[in-house]
Amino acid sequence: MSEAKRDILSRLKKKYDAIGQDVDTHLEGLLHSTPITYWDYIQTDVLLNLQVRRSEQPDEMTFIIYHQINELLFKMVLWEIEQISSHQDLTTEFFSSRLQRISRYFDMLSSSFTIMREGMEVEQYLKFRNTLTPASGFQSAQYRLIEFASTELINLIDNRFRETIDRNTPFEHAYEHLYWQAAGKNYATGDKTTLLRLFQERYMEDFIVFMKKYNKSNLASIFKSLPAEGRMNLDLQNAMRHYDHTVNVRWVMTHYLTAEKYLESSGEPAEATGGSNWKDYMHPRHQRRIFFPDLWTPDELNNWGISNLEDHKILDQPIAT
Ligand code: HEM
Repeated sequence: MSEAKRDILSRLKKKYDAIGQDVDTHLEGLLHSTPITYWDYIQTDVLLNLQVRRSEQPDEMTFIIYHQINELLFKMVLWEIEQISSHQDLTTEFFSSRLQRISRYFDMLSSSFTIMREGMEVEQYLKFRNTLTPASGFQSAQYRLIEFASTELINLIDNRFRETIDRNTPFEHAYEHLYWQAAGKNYATGDKTTLLRLFQERYMEDFIVFMKKYNKSNLASIFKSLPAEGRMNLDLQNAMRHYDHTVNVRWVMTHYLTAEKYLESSGEPAEATGGSNWKDYMHPRHQRRIFFPDLWTPDELNNWGISNLEDHKILDQPIAT
């Protein structure tokens, strides 16, 4: 037996000894195991059985699959954020490279949104959307998790209430004042729309746990905790600005223009399936959701969501933070 084979066998034995298992039994099992196949590994049968229409409209299939693709990419984004936030010995290079991965996923989400905007017949959409009320993409939990994991909570609080919230505010109180509550909450009475109520019943507890987990290990906080040299790294700053702009302006605007096309196609502004006052609620100009406000100039902050929608300036000098 070659030296290499002996080495593998001895390492296998060590591995199974450590968990009280007989290596010979496991080796013999190899004689009877079936080879792995693509379809078992990728779980194609399960995956391709998850597309269930509620109407007879063929374009509803495009709508469902594209949403599922979004959710998978959201999962990839969360996966990479977790790699950064749990890293024991984080370097600027690692931070920057993982952030670029995340940005590529959101670049794909933004540039592919034409699949929604151009890829369905308006007449078909207007039919199948009525079978979906009161559901809405608004209820994508992963989208909210990405926000919690990307920035400090204060940046997700509705502008009108930021003064009333600080580090000592209970998470439950902060939750009630997140910017997205404005999509379905009457602040005078505290009443919530069905969209918001069902979302809350299903996810609020999970969200609070997640908010706590990422309270100090979100991307913005981690960036702030880097040594000055890391914070002033030009590539890292540009990667963070790119991510911020892509998620909070580019994706938001392409989504907004899609909603406008379908919901205003009859000439009258139609109600969204989730029932929000979406035109005001969703525009980045009003929402002003910004993950890394310290990395934008006062001028850029003033013009957030108004100018340079498709693009943003690439820095040639780092911003002092
Ligand atoms: C024809 C396609 C689409 C239309 C017309 C549309 C329309 C809307 C509208 C009107 C809202 C506001 C909430 C409401 O009252 O329903 C909303 C929210 C939202 N949608 Fe869509 N949407 C579309 C596709 C998508 C896709 C593919 C995704 C990907 C998951 C998505 C994710 C979201 C998210 C995350 C929100 C919440 C945004 C926020 O809180 O700022 N939407 N959508």
